[in-house]
Amino acid sequence: MDALMRHFRQGDWIFHEGDEGECAYIVEQGEVAIVLERSDGHITLATYGQGTLFGEMAIIDQKPRSAGAIALKDCALRAITRAQLNHRLERADPILKICIQVILKHLRKTLTQIHSPEPSKVSVAPTVTNQANVDVIQPTAQQEESAAQTLGQAIDHSQPMMASDVFSEAIKTLHLEQELQIALTQNQLRLYYQPIVRLSDGLIVGFEALMRWIHPVKGMISPAVFIPIAERSGQIVEMTYWALREASSQLKKFQDIQKSYWGDQYAPLFMSVNFSGRDFLDGRFLDEIQNALQNHQLPPKSLKLEITESMLMLSPDEVQRVLGICQSYGASVAIDDFGTGYSSLSYLQSMPADTLKIDQSFVRTIHKNDRHLALVESILHLAHRLGMLTVAEGVETAEDVVTLRNLGCDLAQGYHYARPMPTDQVLAWMEKQTEQFPKI
Ligand code: CMP
Ligand code: MG
Repeated sequence: MDALMRHFRQGDWIFHEGDEGECAYIVEQGEVAIVLERSDGHITLATYGQGTLFGEMAIIDQKPRSAGAIALKDCALRAITRAQLNHRLERADPILKICIQVILKHLRKTLTQIHSPEPSKVSVAPTVTNQANVDVIQPTAQQEESAAQTLGQAIDHSQPMMASDVFSEAIKTLHLEQELQIALTQNQLRLYYQPIVRLSDGLIVGFEALMRWIHPVKGMISPAVFIPIAERSGQIVEMTYWALREASSQLKKFQDIQKSYWGDQYAPLFMSVNFSGRDFLDGRFLDEIQNALQNHQLPPKSLKLEITESMLMLSPDEVQRVLGICQSYGASVAIDDFGTGYSSLSYLQSMPADTLKIDQSFVRTIHKNDRHLALVESILHLAHRLGMLTVAEGVETAEDVVTLRNLGCDLAQGYHYARPMPTDQVLAWMEKQTEQFPKI
């Protein structure tokens, strides 16, 4: 028996106005009328047929049923539980949540106006259609309009829509989103470059380009704040393209300097650029990658696309297809923050990726936590068996370096070597490398 399938006979009440709501319904069969129950009859607000949903309001705003529901025909209704709706609502965008609350509030206000017995607000003409043995009065267009008019005066500003901290957080996000748009056009975004070195001796092999937002008033805004906002709003796509263009042009300059110091002694420096799941679904993505490589005549392998495990999982097939094409252009692909997502190991063998970056949360604690040491060891082993290059993120001490070197990790990135730096500081740092690594 299907416990969530509810059957009602023609004329049965499904619920009454003012009842506590326990679930919403989808009409699988039959027809339902939504009615305002009044002493002089019922006002039909709507009828719902097969495939429609009703009874959601009381679940979402946790108030009594705004209207009654009655079966106009024999009905089979599928109950959508409070838990099922709440689960989704909790994950919804906070701005959308506020919009839903506002709409529900307006709608309830309108309903009370219609319901009001005060004749000056809405006078209900008894246009009765008699279905399912219910007196049903249809409000005329004029009545609906006068209800809508009273709404304007009747908005209640006294009650907050949601917990005020959630509300102010959401407003802050909206504001930041707008400021971010300005930042994009007014050059407030910068790229900092963090060197990535060979673990065996500390020689520079590449960089990761990291976005910074220097706000004219608020100063430096952390990427941990603005990247998630940009991902939600979709602005991330433009931002990534900007970073890709900027970083590839800068890479050419770094490679020229490398050549001037060491000739062809070492492989050309690479540049890691971070991508978000959304970028891969954008139609311009592959062109942008090709342009980045061609505009600066970069050896394709020197562009490394970084994508996190969790982003891989968003639409694995599409991401896999697009990454495969990037690799066919010769670009390198790195799985970023490895170990923090929830992806299964099978992605590792199916994803076209040649580099694996071990998340700093494991690296930072290898000396404090034996289990993390064991994990790092196993990840390195696995990656090498799959023929992947390994990078340890968050390398902060000489002790980390020794341990990771002994474990056979290839490359390292972290404060022990260098912080993410603006270009001029990178150049000074590179120059210092020539003392340790003179031209042969
Ligand atoms: P709920 O308040 O839980 O129970 C009554 C349902 O009727 C409500 O959710 C909505 O699904 C529906 N409802 C309320 N007002 C209207 C309206 N004006 N037009 C159509 N449907 C409505
Ligand atoms: Mg990264």
